[in-house]
Amino acid sequence: MSARVLVSQPIPERGLELLRREGIEFEINSRPHPLPKAELISALAGKEGLICLLTDRIDAELIERATLLRGIANCAVGYDNIDLDAAAARGIFVTNTPDVLTETTADLTWALILSVARRIAEADRFTRNGLFRGWEMMLLLGGDVHGKLLGIVGAGRIGMAVARRARGFAMRILYCNPHRNHALEEELGAEPAPLDRLLEESDFVSLHVPLLPETRHLIGERELSRMKKSAYLINTSRGPVVDEAALVRFLREGRISGAGLDVYENEPKLSEGLRNLDNVVLLPHIGSASFETRSRMAEIAALNIAAILRGEPPPHRVNPFSPQPSTL
Ligand code: GLV
Repeated sequence: MSARVLVSQPIPERGLELLRREGIEFEINSRPHPLPKAELISALAGKEGLICLLTDRIDAELIERATLLRGIANCAVGYDNIDLDAAAARGIFVTNTPDVLTETTADLTWALILSVARRIAEADRFTRNGLFRGWEMMLLLGGDVHGKLLGIVGAGRIGMAVARRARGFAMRILYCNPHRNHALEEELGAEPAPLDRLLEESDFVSLHVPLLPETRHLIGERELSRMKKSAYLINTSRGPVVDEAALVRFLREGRISGAGLDVYENEPKLSEGLRNLDNVVLLPHIGSASFETRSRMAEIAALNIAAILRGEPPPHRVNPFSPQPSTL
């Protein structure tokens, strides 16, 4: 039997097991890198389903060429790598993997908050490099986290999970979101605020918005200049939400205290000068990277594809369209 589904890159076994259990034949690219576009187009020929990762660019041309495709299951909560309109125009479902990665990503956001404020990565490099010559009163002083003000930009699932953890640090919370989040206000006493106020008052500004045309460079020169000199910027959302060149300038000139980044504007490239700065903690986009969560993500992507192939609406569909386009 020929494969009905393409798995674009390696994913945890649990997702593949589910496909096998459902009796779905699949083909997998076993190299841990995105296939070049021409190879992806040819691998998709004759496939009804695609399980892909956020590094796969699924554009209109590719969707057009995949004539039998019925579903695209992104193994990520974000789906800015997929042309949703092109998929909807062809009646192709697009799905993501929400919820399962919320807590894991919030944990990593906190790892960045603590690392950048308390200079953990820098202190680790210092110790490894044999520079530790005994306790010093003024050695590697950082900023306190407890009792400070946390500004959450984007109060969805992940923003809220990050805010919940702030309770243990006795922090006040401001949030900025297109809609009021009453649960966040009632449960955590968080206060809604316009972005400018949040930037001006927060000690930690943490970004949790999806990448959309209106969130591209949401944080640029103007916004950074509103932040306090003692404040830190944390980004575990999508790189292009921040104007990275402007951020490098602000970090280099000490106009903000530091940044914790898991994502970059042109991944995997870093902006000129970023890697040379000590007041930034740099991670390679590992927000959801725990064994448990990545396995769940793979399983959910497979569940979505299995539903689509059975002719059912998938549980985590992100593009609205009529599943049975009119044939009148
Ligand atoms: C990771 O960045 C995701 O969108 O799941």
